[in-house]
Amino acid sequence: MKRYLVTGGAGFIGSNFIRYIFGNNKLTGNENINIVNIDKLTYAGNLENVKKLEKKYNYTFIQEDICNRNSIRDIFNFYKPDYVINFAAESHVDRSIESSTEFIKTNVLGTQVLLECSLNSEIEKFIQISTDEVYGSIENGFFSEESPLKPNNPYAASKASGDLLVQSFYNTYGLPSIITRSSNNYGPCQHKEKLIPKVITNCLERRKIPVYGNGINVRDWIYVTDHCYGINKILNKGAIGEVYNISSNDEKRNIDIVRIIINKTKEILQNKGLDSNGISEELIEFVEDRKGHDKRYGIKATKLIETLGWNNSIGLEWGLEKTINWYIDEGLVVE
Ligand SMILES: NC(=O)c1ccc[n+]([C@@H]2O[C@H](COP(=O)([O-])OP(=O)(O)OC[C@H]3O[C@@H](n4cnc5c(N)ncnc54)[C@H](O)[C@@H]3O)[C@@H](O)[C@H]2O)c1
Repeated sequence: MKRYLVTGGAGFIGSNFIRYIFGNNKLTGNENINIVNIDKLTYAGNLENVKKLEKKYNYTFIQEDICNRNSIRDIFNFYKPDYVINFAAESHVDRSIESSTEFIKTNVLGTQVLLECSLNSEIEKFIQISTDEVYGSIENGFFSEESPLKPNNPYAASKASGDLLVQSFYNTYGLPSIITRSSNNYGPCQHKEKLIPKVITNCLERRKIPVYGNGINVRDWIYVTDHCYGINKILNKGAIGEVYNISSNDEKRNIDIVRIIINKTKEILQNKGLDSNGISEELIEFVEDRKGHDKRYGIKATKLIETLGWNNSIGLEWGLEKTINWYIDEGLVVE
């Protein structure tokens, strides 16, 4: 029996990860797992994302803030996790530019609380879910796991601080930890404030689609289950103390991905026999650029591919189709 303690599991990637782990175990015929999901349920957390799991005998949801040291310690003492996978975070760059206080609390202090509790509990592995944004912006080429951290916005700085704390707990106490840094995720259950769901839902609601600056900033997109597959590989086979970058190398300029989504949404609605009137590139509205907007994030997953045999399986075209279909069929209920 392996006991997983997942934080932030009512959010986008965490909820996909929990479903992935249960699905994967069903496939291997081994349901010998137990998952505890701790989530504060901020504006970004949504229990609808994990609703179908509620009846499982080996799944427990606990509404709690990872910064609450005493409660988190009690949870560790009671559930005695083997694996801790920390997804809980304030995750939206724009909000961090408005105010960074919650970002420092959750992404730094919250991580420290989890690390301390892990140290006092006999865990096998601590996985810190981080981001390519900690490396900062790069015009050409790619960052590797050895590249220095040079975060440019408060969100990225808070995530980099969390990463440094994880590394310090590994170096100082030998805490068996691993850091994963992924590029931009997309897929079902993502909050509407993020670029891809915002474009899809604004199309569906015939609202203007804001694009920062001239739209030429480049992002690298990975379908969320490919990310979850990578995290699971790293959890099972990754080397302690290491960092793994996770990316599908599906780079697009923001304006290009927005155009692709608009046209795909229109096409999918038409194929379903649904109303697609009013969906066109005319919905695009260029708005004042984000402060300190990073031009491009660039990482490669070479280490993960070569040492652990990971590969992404869902390209951007198919992934967008799946995502758009999900928002048409189910996603409009997600606030
Ligand atoms: N979304 C991406 O493209 C992306 C890319 C790379 C890395 N990441 C990282 O992956 C992780 C998950 O990202 P996401 O997109 O799913 O974020 P999200 O905002 O959708 O979900 C975050 C979850 O954490 C919970 N949470 C926030 N503060 C908490 C606290 N103090 N205690 C307990 N729970 C708390 C929220 O309620 C929410 O359910 C984050 O650490 C993020 O930095 C995200």
